[in-house]
Amino acid sequence: MRIGFFDSGLGGLIIMNAASRALPDHDMVFLSDTLNVPYGNRSPEFVYQATQKAVEFLFKQDCALVIIACNTACAIALRKLQQNWLMENYPDRRILGVIVPTLEVALTKEHTRIGLMATSATATSDVYGQELRKLNPDIKLTSQPCPLLVPMIENDGRQWVGPVLESYLKPLVKQDVQSVILGCTHYPFLKAEITQTLAHLGSKAELISQDEIIDEKLYEYLQRHPEIDKKLKKGGRRSYYVTDLTQAYQNAAQEIAGQTIPFIKTEL
Ligand code: DGL
Repeated sequence: MRIGFFDSGLGGLIIMNAASRALPDHDMVFLSDTLNVPYGNRSPEFVYQATQKAVEFLFKQDCALVIIACNTACAIALRKLQQNWLMENYPDRRILGVIVPTLEVALTKEHTRIGLMATSATATSDVYGQELRKLNPDIKLTSQPCPLLVPMIENDGRQWVGPVLESYLKPLVKQDVQSVILGCTHYPFLKAEITQTLAHLGSKAELISQDEIIDEKLYEYLQRHPEIDKKLKKGGRRSYYVTDLTQAYQNAAQEIAGQTIPFIKTEL
């Protein structure tokens, strides 16, 4: 069996690449719902249905374990899928998210004021806040919806991102946050710009980025769950599925992976 990675768009590739470095021999499957990206500005009903279909697709590709790399899909769909649908339909499979592992790493910094940049859907869901309160109710989380960032990244608009970032980061700097969680798979693309804008606003806040977290967390999870790890094939094979394929996506993926990725177009 294999490990599946799901994202609405490009960012999940960065996460799977990082996981590939930690677990080079494990067979992995990537799925990006490029036809429906961005999820961040859609209704919770849409995001839930789309995420369920995506996870089911990956289970049908023989994945024993699916990592939902998309924060929006995690915020809206993960708990409901884990609690109801998974137990009824695939009780021997597992679905993991990225929100709790990210918060666990954020807490190791021992900061008391944390900022969150996320899509509107993730910020509105307050799932980061709910999970953080369970882990440590004394920490103050300031969430900032950043609805323009994903469309700007997907449409090659990085050169105009400066003023947009400034207006999104000002409220976090005003709260004097000590770290900023990049709560969206796309935001690691903007690490340099975010760091620069924070410095420009006089903040030394540290960035907490999932491409530096999920690989190690997945490795540790498999160490703790040898019963799952022993089901996983270790031939180092990779498969990549998308629900729509454009030249722009292909080019951006090549930039991330450093090689042409043989995407297979599929329907969910
Ligand atoms: N992948 C999504 C996330 O991590 C962002 C892109 C989208 O809006 O679909 O929240």
